[in-house]
Amino acid sequence: MFKSILLLILISVLSSCNNKKIDFAIVVHGGAGTITKASMSNEMELAYNQKLEEAINTGYKILEKGGTSLDAVESTIKILENSELFNAGKGSVLSNEEIVEMDASIMNGNNLNAGAISGVRTIKNPISAARLVMEKSDHVFLSGIGAESFAKSKGLEIVNNEYFITQRRLNSLLNAKKRDTLNDNKFGTVGCVALDKLGNIASGTSTGGMTNKKWNRIGDVPIIGAGTYANNNTCGISSTGWGEFFIRNVVAYDISSQIEYKNLSIDIAAKNTLNKVKNLGGSGGIVGIDKYGNIVMDFNTDGMYRALKKSDGSFDIKIYR
Ligand code: GLY
Repeated sequence: MFKSILLLILISVLSSCNNKKIDFAIVVHGGAGTITKASMSNEMELAYNQKLEEAINTGYKILEKGGTSLDAVESTIKILENSELFNAGKGSVLSNEEIVEMDASIMNGNNLNAGAISGVRTIKNPISAARLVMEKSDHVFLSGIGAESFAKSKGLEIVNNEYFITQRRLNSLLNAKKRDTLNDNKFGTVGCVALDKLGNIASGTSTGGMTNKKWNRIGDVPIIGAGTYANNNTCGISSTGWGEFFIRNVVAYDISSQIEYKNLSIDIAAKNTLNKVKNLGGSGGIVGIDKYGNIVMDFNTDGMYRALKKSDGSFDIKIYR
């Protein structure tokens, strides 16, 4: 009897620790896949770590000064889009036609507003275009030339497609074409979730999609509920992985739903959803923050570029499992 009471007290203390409200927090990913220590040079590892640190610090400083989670997410993702290291913005993977076509989305957990764009070739920062769709249009999702005209009309920077193309991605495309494959198990999508001092959660995701894609293929990233989801009552999620499987499992919303309807923790909910992805043959990962500031960074691949920072002093940057 005495032991049972002690156990109950321990469980309630532990769960209240888990639900202790963090003032603000931010988490970022730079893609998941077959990323192993053995396949990474010291220089590349350092470059990834430095860029992840720059990105997370950018968003963190905005939150620290009382800025919004949306501003933190957009600014953090822009740093990664402007870096050649990740599959988003400059450095995006190439399609079968040797061009870059990008997708992005963003969501505001405070009012469930969302914006997305797909198949764009000239918008320097797709995440900013997604935000403008959310805030300055009557729509949620614009695509292709229309999305580009919209972005231009709102003053966003437009560049030639060549701006995005790097030798590294050209080599990957040539390899993929030789092997006649789409999936190289490297998903360099970038994403960010932030919780601000007012308790508002925002999520965003940006990608060049998959190497050697054809027929204007669109993945999970611009699909609200698959690549990105945010709801102040549950959590924010950003996905990275084999998009077709993330669409079929409605990954980001599936995690939020388990919190909403089953009262599960964000860790367990993410694990359940990623297991569903794996059981169908897919792979990838997610980052997320729940309404209490608990952070999850989970994946079913060898590695995922990732970083977190919280107002309680927690700070972590990791690449491998
Ligand atoms: N997750 C990125 C894509 O499949 O396009």
